[in-house]
Amino acid sequence: MTIGIIGSGAMGAGIAQVVATAGHEVHLLDQNAAALDKALASIGASLRKLAEKGKLTAEATLARLHPTASMADFADCGLVIEAIVEDLGVKQQVFKQVEAIVSADCVLASNTSSLSITSIAAACQRPERFVGIHFFNPAPLMQLVEVIPAVQTRAGLAEEVRAWVQGWGKRPVLAQDTPGFIVNRVARPFYGEAIRILEEGIADIATIDWALTELGGFRMGPFALMDFIGHDVNYRVTESVFNSFFYDPRYRPSFTQRRLFEAGYYGRKAGRGFYDYAPGASQAEP
Ligand code: NAI
Repeated sequence: MTIGIIGSGAMGAGIAQVVATAGHEVHLLDQNAAALDKALASIGASLRKLAEKGKLTAEATLARLHPTASMADFADCGLVIEAIVEDLGVKQQVFKQVEAIVSADCVLASNTSSLSITSIAAACQRPERFVGIHFFNPAPLMQLVEVIPAVQTRAGLAEEVRAWVQGWGKRPVLAQDTPGFIVNRVARPFYGEAIRILEEGIADIATIDWALTELGGFRMGPFALMDFIGHDVNYRVTESVFNSFFYDPRYRPSFTQRRLFEAGYYGRKAGRGFYDYAPGASQAEP
């Protein structure tokens, strides 16, 4: 099966690497040529590192990856996975374009972190072939993938997709179509409480991250993790989960993160977020 991926940012690139490694031909599309170049360079570097460990042949996997700026290349795809900006209207628009190109039995999937799969599907002509496939960052390393059927998804498709995901070497779980699904729902209060602890002056960023990683057993502290995900993505997800839960205060976004988002301080990818990633910048110690 040939797979089309829309968006070659952090997630699209990672997903492309996963499915190309599993043996699929992959068309990787982005509206931004520089993002495609960056994705191919990072996938190449990652595959070569794995090849050094004898885990795969980088060149054979890379040969299955076909970057493109044209959706017409998706005509032969059996599955299209979208990983573009977390915006319902933009995603719905993109799937209208996809449906004009792919065959009637091509499965459509979104990697959205928080938007309703049902509402993206509702914009499609054939919503019964729509499903959520939610990877975690970085996709080549993270085992978990949430598979989320929409209300309209045809019976059996989620199970079929789950088997595909398993075949890609991942550990899929089925989740209902509710805001944030499983992990992002749990993660919102994790980030939200960490920011509230900061805002209340109880501890500083480095101390909170240190306590949770060194003593709490978390792999990354909440602030380092938010910087890693990107505040453009993370803030939008928080806002979306809050709105979708009918403004339940448990999920309320914070002005601290909103201001970072507005300033363009998106975290690691922008060189600045809660931490400063400029070359030579010293990270605060607890
Ligand atoms: P990103 O900002 O790194 O990449 C998005 C890419 O999509 C960019 O390269 C952009 O040029 C491209 N793009 C935007 N609109 C497009 C369009 N109409 N057509 C073609 N390309 C388009 O974003 P990231 O982090 O990869 O997130 C993508 C999606 O994955 C979002 O829905 C996000 O919520 C979800 N997600 C993000 C995770 C994360 O940790 N960053 C984790 C799991 C899901």
